[in-house]
Order: sequence, then structure tokens, then C-alpha cells
Amino acid sequence: MIGFIYKKIIKPILFKFPADDVHTFFLKRGRLLGSINFTKNLLSKILPYKDSVLNTKVAGINFTNPVGLSAGFDYDADLIEVLPSVGFGFHTIGTVTHLPYAGNPRPMLGRLPKSKSLLVNKGFKSMGMEAVLKKIKESPRGRHQSEEAGTIPLGLSIGATNRAYKKIEDMADDVYLSFELALKVNYFDYYELNISCPNLINVENLKEKFDDPVGFAILLNKLSYLNINKPLFIKMHAEKSVAETLALLAVADKYKWISGVIMSNLVKNRENACFDQTEIKNAGKGNFSGKPTEEFSNNLISEVYKKYKDRFIIIGCGGIFTGKDAYEKIKRGASLVQMITGMIYEGPSVIGKINRDLAKLLRKDGYKSVSEAVGKYHK
Ligand SMILES: Cc1cc2nc3c(=O)[nH]c(=O)nc-3n(C[C@H](O)[C@H](O)[C@H](O)COP(=O)(O)O)c2cc1C
Repeated sequence: MIGFIYKKIIKPILFKFPADDVHTFFLKRGRLLGSINFTKNLLSKILPYKDSVLNTKVAGINFTNPVGLSAGFDYDADLIEVLPSVGFGFHTIGTVTHLPYAGNPRPMLGRLPKSKSLLVNKGFKSMGMEAVLKKIKESPRGRHQSEEAGTIPLGLSIGATNRAYKKIEDMADDVYLSFELALKVNYFDYYELNISCPNLINVENLKEKFDDPVGFAILLNKLSYLNINKPLFIKMHAEKSVAETLALLAVADKYKWISGVIMSNLVKNRENACFDQTEIKNAGKGNFSGKPTEEFSNNLISEVYKKYKDRFIIIGCGGIFTGKDAYEKIKRGASLVQMITGMIYEGPSVIGKINRDLAKLLRKDGYKSVSEAVGKYHK
């Protein structure tokens, strides 16, 4: 019913306005809703789907369900209070950068509904780490400093400030400074290190990059000086070949404090068969989420799982619209999944629906928990 109202009434109205403005509107409304106990309680009665078959423990963290909000939607930490009531099992804020960045020139977002995709060109729009941490400090989450009843695991995605650097070591220092600030507080259950943002317009002329083995090793060596005492996941590219991805993971494998990988980020290639031809011809500058990412993500999940089994926990991300989509990633090797685009097109009630369908699929195949199904295709 809620999904129907969203798709037939709310979405057609929202989609008449520029996507950048609608996103800002949602963050403001979400922040407001999260500050009122009545609305939070009401939402938590209507939206989430709870079922013990969905409970799972990953990297020492308990999740009531395996479906999370991926990095990029709540980039400045406005939705920490409201998201547990929407039905997500966990939630990543960011990508946050050390220094503030107002975002690439507008439009930063666009819609390709027939392709079930969003155009993204934000380039790490961020208030900056200090401002984000201050905002959390002033919220109930910050005041209690830890997980409490009614909250869900919270992650922080960190990336390099989108500005010009003379050399890759300076860019690694910028990421180091972000981690240093975040590690001083106790707000986060896990971290994401984003090495795969395709929209960093100011770093394009650097010789090495974080997403080549040399640049990646420089970054990880620098971060080794810190005591990263919570699980850390590397957010990987979608469109790198299997060989390129495994070469990056061979570097990551040397750092035992890296718990896993997130497969994967946005896609760039406009020849992708998932695009509606008219939509892609009219799309502006940027990269794409949703269905065009799905096959890349699924393929990499399988390849990384086959090679690394338990060494890297995999979080599957890209093109999830249904419980079946989420289950596919789990059977390929993902222990958790994340999403954004499915929620934009289907509405917030889709999170509960995905969980309900996933629970049904797990039971139908005779599993008692999500973890029993992880990597099933390759066993
Ligand atoms: C509006 C938007 C902003 C995004 N920003 C980020 C970001 O800041 N950091 C990041 O790691 N991924 C970012 N992403 C990528 C998503 O986290 C995710 O990897 C990708 O969209 C595929 O998932 P989906 O198909 O469920 O949207 C963004 C995606 C969208 C749609």
C-alpha cells in the first residue's frame, strides 16, 4: 500500500523537480522526522520487516537484517536517527572528506528511470570531517556514544578531499587526517575506505591513483600508522577487470586490519546494455548507479569469493531492487548487501519488502540464517 502510494502519487510529483533539490529536501525532512519520537515510532510500526532468519553476525557486529543503505545518500549524516525506523539493517554515512567540498558543478544528480539508474556527479560533496563529527556529537547517537536499543550499526565512508594534490602521498595524508579524527570518537561500528569514486575532477592528473596497486599500497602504508580498531571495508570499482581487482586485493591482503570489500561503486561506460538509448544519449556528465552496475558487481562478488573465501568479507552493492536481487549477491558470496537506487525508484517501503522476500527465499531453500547461504553457488 505504502509502496503503491509512493510510486503512483509521491514519486511522480518529486520527479518533476531537479534531482539535486529533491535529495536535499529528503535529507532535511528525514532529519526532522528523526527528531520526533512519534514519527519514528510510527514509521517503525509500518515499514521494517523483522524475522530471525535475517539476523546475522558479520565482522563481530550483530545485524537484524543484511540490507544496508550504501554510501552517498546520507553524505552529511542527516538520517542517523530516522533510518533504523525505515527498516535498514545498517547504514553508511558519507563519503566524508577531511576538508569541505561543495560538490561538482550542478547538476550533480539525474534520473534514468527506464534504465533503473541514477546519474551521479557529486564528487564527494561533503561538509568536511570536523563538521560531520560535530553534528553527530550533538545527536542522540553522539551523546550515547554507542549502539543502543533501536539503533542500527553505523558506518563511516572516508575518501580523499576533492582538490588538487601535488603527489599521491599528499592525498594519502588527507585520508589519514580524516581517519585520525574519526578514530578519536566512538560513533562508528565500521569504516569504509572509498578508493573508487569516479567523479574526483581535481585529482585526474595525478600519476598514481589509489585504485592502482602502487598508489593503493602508499595509502594503506600510511593508514597502518593508525590503530583502526573497527572493521574496515574497501569500496571497490565496478568496471575494473577481475585481474585488476585481484591485483588490488593482493595488496589489501597484506594488511590484516582490512576486513573486507564492497562490490561495488558506480559505472562509467555508456555502452552498457542496460541503458535505454534515449536516456543515455541525453545524460549529462557523471556516472551511473542501479541496474547498469548489477552484472559487474555480481561477477566481482563471485570471483573475489572464489579466490579469497573468508579472508575478505564481501558486501554486495549495485542494482538491488528486490529480495531476489539481494539473495543472488548473497549466494555469490556477499555476507551483507547495500543499496540506494532501488529505494529511490520503489520508495522506502521496498526495504521491508526486500527483507520479507529474502526471508521467504532463505526458508524455501532450507536455510536457517543468511550466513548459511553465503557463497552457496561456489560450494
Ligand atoms: C546519489 C548517489 C551518491 C553516491 N555517492 C557515493 C559516495 O559518496 N561514496 C560511495 O562509496 N558511493 C557512492 N555512491 C555509490 C553507491 O554507494 C553504490 O555503490 C551504487 O549506487 C550502486 O548501488 P545502487 O545500484 O543500489 O544504487 C553513490 C550513489 C548514488 C546513487
